[in-house]
Amino acid sequence: MKHLLKMLDLSKEEIIDILNLADQLKYEQKHGIPHKHLQGKTLGMIFEKASTRTRVSFEAGMYQLGGYPLFLSSSELQIGRGEPVEDTARVLSRYIDGIMIRTYEQKEVENLAEFGNIPIINGLTDFAHPCQVLADLMTIREYKNRLEGLKVCYIGDGNNMANSLTVGCLKVGMDITLACPQGYEPDQQVLDFAAEFDGFSLVTSPQDAATGADVLITDVWASMGQEGESEKRREAFAGFQINDEICALAKSDAMVMHCLPAHREEEITAKVLEKHAAEIFDEAENRLHVQKAVMVKLMKG
Ligand code: CP
Ligand code: NVA
Repeated sequence: MKHLLKMLDLSKEEIIDILNLADQLKYEQKHGIPHKHLQGKTLGMIFEKASTRTRVSFEAGMYQLGGYPLFLSSSELQIGRGEPVEDTARVLSRYIDGIMIRTYEQKEVENLAEFGNIPIINGLTDFAHPCQVLADLMTIREYKNRLEGLKVCYIGDGNNMANSLTVGCLKVGMDITLACPQGYEPDQQVLDFAAEFDGFSLVTSPQDAATGADVLITDVWASMGQEGESEKRREAFAGFQINDEICALAKSDAMVMHCLPAHREEEITAKVLEKHAAEIFDEAENRLHVQKAVMVKLMKG
């Protein structure tokens, strides 16, 4: 594994390896056991979109690993004035040891990987959010002690989260059913991948998707960059909400997860979010541990 660009690139073994190392690093951090695997290394973090969790967890994680996190806002880089990402990649490769990037187009992340010669980590594009899905899998395994055979239900937009979750769950042997409004399905590349798996279904009824689920997951109706469509989406997504009625259809011990930020009373009710705050905030915490594992795998010489 040279980069983390999207879940489609990872094998089941690579995913499980990352989760195992993340568990170990979490244990070490909680017990004050030093784990400075990246002493002397620098991670550049390019943000073309807002972030709370991704920015702070990468920054704190790099510090805990003994390395240096360098925050690079695209508006202050020459990228923001049109310098091609291909040139940026070749320049940064000479200064630093890895790049985390959050941007719009997946192609930009793939180009960074192609033109640079340092590891590239996708911190969210319109197509994928692999760091989040690795943290989600880590959290599910913590709560359920296994992944294989569990039934995941995703309700909402066929966005970056839906794309990465579908691929990640299927690769590790989970079943996943997505309930998306018509016209808001996951990316065709993901649907083509998923079509090979018996454990995959795409439906339009949130109720059908939730029935018998071990894990219920949702995400915002309008992602970053889609703010202009908020009103139209509010209509299209009415009913695509995790609420008490949906929870009642899932297993009685079902987890509820959300990558955050959440829009209460849109994709999830405040009541359900608070009831499942333990797993939702563990999920947010695990971004730190899983990304530390990814950085160690990619950047530790
Ligand atoms: N879940 C997530 O990626 O959060 P941020 O947008 O705050 O980084
Ligand atoms: N789908 C959301 C996820 C935010 C972490 C977005 O892209 O804005």
